[in-house]
Amino acid sequence: MAKTWFITGTSSGFGRHLSELLLERGDRVAATLRNPSRLDALAEKYGDRLWVRELDVTDTAAMRRVVDEAFADLGRIDVIISNAGYGLLGAAEELRDDQIDRQLATNLVAPIQLARAVTPHLRAQGGGRFLQVSSMGGHLTFPGFSMYHTSKWGVEGFFDSFAKEVAPFGILTTLIEPGVIGTDFFEPGGSSDIAPAMEIYAGSPAAWFREGVTDPKAMPGDPIRTAQAMIDVGDAENPPNRQLLGSDAYVAIRDAMAERMRVFESGLDLARTADRDGAS
Ligand SMILES: NC(=O)c1ccc[n+]([C@@H]2O[C@H](COP(=O)([O-])OP(=O)(O)OC[C@H]3O[C@@H](n4cnc5c(N)ncnc54)[C@H](OP(=O)(O)O)[C@@H]3O)[C@@H](O)[C@H]2O)c1
Repeated sequence: MAKTWFITGTSSGFGRHLSELLLERGDRVAATLRNPSRLDALAEKYGDRLWVRELDVTDTAAMRRVVDEAFADLGRIDVIISNAGYGLLGAAEELRDDQIDRQLATNLVAPIQLARAVTPHLRAQGGGRFLQVSSMGGHLTFPGFSMYHTSKWGVEGFFDSFAKEVAPFGILTTLIEPGVIGTDFFEPGGSSDIAPAMEIYAGSPAAWFREGVTDPKAMPGDPIRTAQAMIDVGDAENPPNRQLLGSDAYVAIRDAMAERMRVFESGLDLARTADRDGAS
């Protein structure tokens, strides 16, 4: 049976591919984006199966209004995909204050507020799915990308806890954790924001990421296949609470986690010295 999906950030990348794939298979899509005219061709092709509203996800009041309107207009919404987000490149010292604020507002606060806005509606309809697009960068870090990692690690923590709060209401959440996928995210002049460079960081670990990001077509992950895999998660009878997408994500996270465990274990003797006598 056809489903209804609510998606943020549908102008390009995963959000756009998700919308196209879902409409093509006959589902209904509530697409939100900053510049609705970017979906004009899809609106013409799919008519009222595509519901479109302008939404900058950093505007929490507008997000609540659009969410309420979507449920009022469409009735049941089966799957929410919180996808809007972008990268911020630069060493912590290089970043401007407003760049930090916007990164956290978009990638961290907005997903939290979206989850809060849809919860009463999903609860009222007896449940639903929430897919949060996180990243392999929510489990590991690269130098020169600290604020992006802060946002995605934050999202990982929020949804890990939120999932347990809303599961009793039939609301199932999944953190989607892609590896490196060739969307506009990495396109030179694409969606990522770049801090003004300080000479002192040239050639240092903080610079290699900004200097190394070049051709999206050379990246290991395929954007359309990634979007299709997200749809498969949204369709799954028992969706996982986390889903990696891309073999690179699996290898990099496996290695990063093994290294963290190695560090914890090497400090175990000292950790135990903080125990009260007789504590197990
Ligand atoms: N590509 C990867 O390798 C990769 C890996 C892991 C995770 N991700 C995550 O995947 C998600 C989608 O990224 P993508 O790769 O598809 O890149 P993308 O093609 O650049 O798409 C990003 C989307 O987010 C939207 N957006 C950004 N700020 C917004 C705001 N304030 N309000 C509403 N929409 C906003 C953009 O809209 P505008 O057109 O208006 O800017 C665009 O539609 C992001 O959360 C990203 O962190 C990507």
